[in-house]
Amino acid sequence: MSFKKKFLFFSVSKIVHQKNPFQFSFAILFFFFLSSQIFSRTLEVHEGESIQKAIDSLEKGDTVKVYPGVYNEFLFVDKTHFTLSGVIVNGKWPVLDGVGKLNDGVIGSGANFLIENFHIKNYKANGVMTQGAGNIIMRKLIVENTGIYGIYPTMGTNVVVEDTVSLGIADAAIYIGMCHNVDVRRNEVYGSVIGIEIENSTNVLIEGNTVYDNSAGIVAFALPGLPLKKVENVIIRKNFIFDNNHRNFAEPGALVAGVPPGIGIGVMAGDEVTIEGNIIRRNSFAGIGIGDNNLLPNSKSPDPDVEPNPDRNKVLENVFIDNGKRKWNDIISWLFYVIRIIFSGNPIPESPNGGKVGIFPEGYDVVASGKGKDNCLISPDSVTKIGTSSYGICKPTDTTEKIKTMIGDPKLGESKSDARELGKQVFGAVCSGCHSMTLRTVGPPIKEIQEKYKKDVYGVVSFASMPKKVREGFIEMPSQKYLGNEKLTAVANYILNLKDEGAKGVAK
Ligand code: HEC
Repeated sequence: MSFKKKFLFFSVSKIVHQKNPFQFSFAILFFFFLSSQIFSRTLEVHEGESIQKAIDSLEKGDTVKVYPGVYNEFLFVDKTHFTLSGVIVNGKWPVLDGVGKLNDGVIGSGANFLIENFHIKNYKANGVMTQGAGNIIMRKLIVENTGIYGIYPTMGTNVVVEDTVSLGIADAAIYIGMCHNVDVRRNEVYGSVIGIEIENSTNVLIEGNTVYDNSAGIVAFALPGLPLKKVENVIIRKNFIFDNNHRNFAEPGALVAGVPPGIGIGVMAGDEVTIEGNIIRRNSFAGIGIGDNNLLPNSKSPDPDVEPNPDRNKVLENVFIDNGKRKWNDIISWLFYVIRIIFSGNPIPESPNGGKVGIFPEGYDVVASGKGKDNCLISPDSVTKIGTSSYGICKPTDTTEKIKTMIGDPKLGESKSDARELGKQVFGAVCSGCHSMTLRTVGPPIKEIQEKYKKDVYGVVSFASMPKKVREGFIEMPSQKYLGNEKLTAVANYILNLKDEGAKGVAK
């Protein structure tokens, strides 16, 4: 866009500076003709008006500016090359408020866009979710009490999340799901079950964030039963990660309810995760925990395409202070966790040195479990640790300091990522956030849905557009009606026809 503008300006000014008056007026006309096509418009929205209406009339290159006020809206946008920008006046922000009734603040697909300057609160499912969107920036957002996820890009390539504040989220405040090339910078996340979660994603930089008072601060997980099979090449650098001992308030039985409180950084089945230059303080169970997929509650049904061990992970220079110590309120968080684990019928996780973790395991700076190859610690003697006997010693040259960003060529973000057919793509971008093939994550596993619905595509479509409460101990599924019949039918077909051979049926 800006390239086109510059080029236009250059050619027009060249013509304008010629002496011939005919050429001059022609140039002016030509200029106006082109500018109406190429120059972007700014659409303003003031309190009392509808933001969605402005979004619906967006054209390539446009900006929607939203002035302070409270907007009780769910925004859905499927366009390319636009900016959705709040205007902050005298410290007053535009507020998207779902008043505890609406599911999502913003859902975006499409590509090449920027969303900034909104305070988003009181939604039931997500603050901002993007589905298969590439070349996107989400920044300067306050996301508060928005249900399961705060800021949630899925299936995107070239994604930036920066300078946001998220709190009070029952799963992950910032959740990077199945994305490639991601920077998560300078965000503040607190009071959530998980601060920042990177799941089945590759090339991710998590830098300069302040992460505190969550049950777990920053985690990188490779989960079974999802279309993308690994979490790899992640840098977790220069973050402040402290006091992550919050009571785990995830829906009991949801996958994250199994995450023990007191974790600063957690890596499960992750490969090439480098942890460097962080300040990691007062996380009562593990400053850093690295383990394999046996930590999952339902590890008896593994995904043959997910390599379950943590390999080639590096713990370089970090500052560790007072991890592994429990104060009385940490003990209460822990007791609450243990009681819930017992009542949910999940097994208590294996301990690093074999056997069960036990009711009150000791905590350390570094807690490792599982097999895993070529992991290392740079200065093993300076930290308290358990389970790291197979770890080597990292080299000073392992430093990541030369890598400034993970964002790659914009061409990669233009085309929708790996999912080729619509059903597969919708499943990856939308349903897989809550449904895995074999595991209960937020919703029931696809296997269970297949058994119940057999070949009833219409049944799945109508449930997904108007869900009802079916199961005890599950949240109510948010309506997916906004996807429209074509996408819903495609995805219903897709999930009902996945082969029943473990997670292998979920195409790569
Ligand atoms: C935000 C999380 C979430 C997302 C996203 C989600 N689901 Fe669900 N889904 C749930 C939960 C939770 C339940 C269980 C609800 C209950 O039993 O009350 C569920 C249940 C279901 C069921 C079983 C209904 C029954 O009769 O037992 C189907 C079918 C289903 N979802 C389909 C879908 C499809 C298709 C998509 C994607 C278009 C999708 N879901 C996206 C959370 C989600």
